[in-house]
Amino acid sequence: MCKTYFGEHQRLFWKTTCLCVCILCSVNCVGSRPIPAREGLTAILPCKFSDTSVQTPRIRWCTDSEEVFERKGAELYEGPGYEGRVDVPEDELHKGNCSLVLKNVRKSDEGIYKCYLLLRRAARSVSPEWSLIQSVELSVDVPKETPKKPTATDNARVDCVHPLVMAVPLLSCLLFSKETL
Ligand SMILES: *[C@@H]1O[C@H](CO)[C@@H](O)[C@H](O)[C@H]1NC(C)=O
Repeated sequence: MCKTYFGEHQRLFWKTTCLCVCILCSVNCVGSRPIPAREGLTAILPCKFSDTSVQTPRIRWCTDSEEVFERKGAELYEGPGYEGRVDVPEDELHKGNCSLVLKNVRKSDEGIYKCYLLLRRAARSVSPEWSLIQSVELSVDVPKETPKKPTATDNARVDCVHPLVMAVPLLSCLLFSKETL
């Protein structure tokens, strides 16, 4: 008797867990749709923040491996390889628009970009606190026809779960529900 009782509960537990994993996976993937861009043209990586009370917002765009752009008022920094190609216009930044303008897009620009806003330092903390505002993926389309190779695109999509990973919990959900019937 006891065994069946616990069995039922365990099944319910696993079914719920499976469902949650499936939902989380799909939300994660939908949220990280790559921004399409064409080689040689300009791409806008969207970003906005709501706290416009900051007098001089300090914004930083990075990839996982390097700093791309930083602005503090009129001062700006452009990362190596991005000189003359990146900007977050100062007037837009004051409106809470931290979108990165990336000119003359290159295939090598493909990847995940993260935007951070410097929060006012806490009275006693020494190190500045950067808060993540936005994470966007850029995918670059090369107009000329080139043979498709599994290169940067596959590595770039780190925060999107592979469909197969989603299929496993989905299958187990089906199996568990069949068992209960
Ligand atoms: C935000 O800034 C970008 C780049 O400057 C611009 O293209 C875009 O239209 C702006 N968005 C809004 C809502 O103002």
